[in-house]
Amino acid sequence: MPETNEKILLAERPEGMPSHDTFDYQEESIEQPQDGQVLVKTIYLSVDPYMRGRMSSAKSYVEPFEVNEVINGTVVGEVVESKSSLFEPGDKVMGMLGWRRYNTIEDAAVRKIDDTIAPLSAYLGILGITGLTAYFGMLDIGKPAAGETVVISGAAGAVGMAAGQIAKLRGARVVGIAGTNKKTEYLKNELGFDETVNYNQVSDLTAALEEACPKGVDVYFDNVGGPVSDAVMSQLNDFARIPVCGAISSYNKTEADVGPRVQPILVKSRALIQGFIVSDYAPRFQEGSEKLAAWLSEGKLTYEETIVEGFENVPDAFLGLFTGENLGKQLVKVSEPSK
Ligand SMILES: NC(=O)c1ccc[n+]([C@@H]2O[C@H](COP(=O)([O-])OP(=O)(O)OC[C@H]3O[C@@H](n4cnc5c(N)ncnc54)[C@H](OP(=O)(O)O)[C@@H]3O)[C@@H](O)[C@H]2O)c1
Repeated sequence: MPETNEKILLAERPEGMPSHDTFDYQEESIEQPQDGQVLVKTIYLSVDPYMRGRMSSAKSYVEPFEVNEVINGTVVGEVVESKSSLFEPGDKVMGMLGWRRYNTIEDAAVRKIDDTIAPLSAYLGILGITGLTAYFGMLDIGKPAAGETVVISGAAGAVGMAAGQIAKLRGARVVGIAGTNKKTEYLKNELGFDETVNYNQVSDLTAALEEACPKGVDVYFDNVGGPVSDAVMSQLNDFARIPVCGAISSYNKTEADVGPRVQPILVKSRALIQGFIVSDYAPRFQEGSEKLAAWLSEGKLTYEETIVEGFENVPDAFLGLFTGENLGKQLVKVSEPSK
């Protein structure tokens, strides 16, 4: 057990694309747990696009990170010391924890997870917020019917590939948009997407989408916003549904991201566009988790991860989300579990 801990703080609020200067590594001593507390060793740490929003001071649905404070996010770890009746050393847990190698926390800040059901990393992806976001966004708002055309942007990312598979389970024809050929090939060959478009390779995205969606678009699950979404929105069928999950293309913009006005399209198509935050569905997380776990164990759903090794590489893993380095869920492996 080392005596020194390491933590990552927000060094400054980034203007535009964050960089290594956004992060500050510091050392501290490891605090021993007091009554009701546990000491948790970080095994996996999740980096997520929404964290970019928390780096700015703008008011949003989650509190901003504070400059010179530890960044936090979802972490899977192992209890190494316990002064809590709820946990024993060796227990695997997850929670919203600081970006530290070790966190000393109240026991209520974590919950146990079962690595006999799925690998630990899956709790930060398909069995966690990622899977739930895809599940509720696609089924509650997108409501794909058999034979309908579902388009997904950011389709080879964590949420996107889960959303596409769920639409396939509903019998829809699924078209995925992603930024590299490796990604589009994965979607078609490994996940059975019906058609794909590499938005970085086509000269006319609207024409490429028209070809990929000859019957128009019934559901557009939007992860990226920007020009990709402008192209999809021009092809909506009557009564299309558009769950707006994210807009990663605008997260690093320093000026208002202005595109074509969508109101005339919405009137003409009578489409329904709805933003959502996965936490809106917290009362139904049990339902979603059980369904995702069942599909996983039945082999109806699969997932992919890109795992960067080492706490020192957390910034690179985070920055890579904005340059499309990841296939599936981007994680950082910080340490090995004890068994
Ligand atoms: N509403 C909610 O509750 C909720 C919950 C979780 C996530 N989200 C949102 O869902 C989206 C996906 O999240 P995730 O965790 O699954 O991340 P992700 O899709 O695994 O990773 C981000 C991906 O976005 C794509 N991308 C980056 N910059 C882009 C740009 N300028 N234009 C188009 N695509 C770009 C990249 O793929 P390419 O190589 O294909 O460009 C990259 O791999 C994000 O917008 C996130 O904020 C929302």
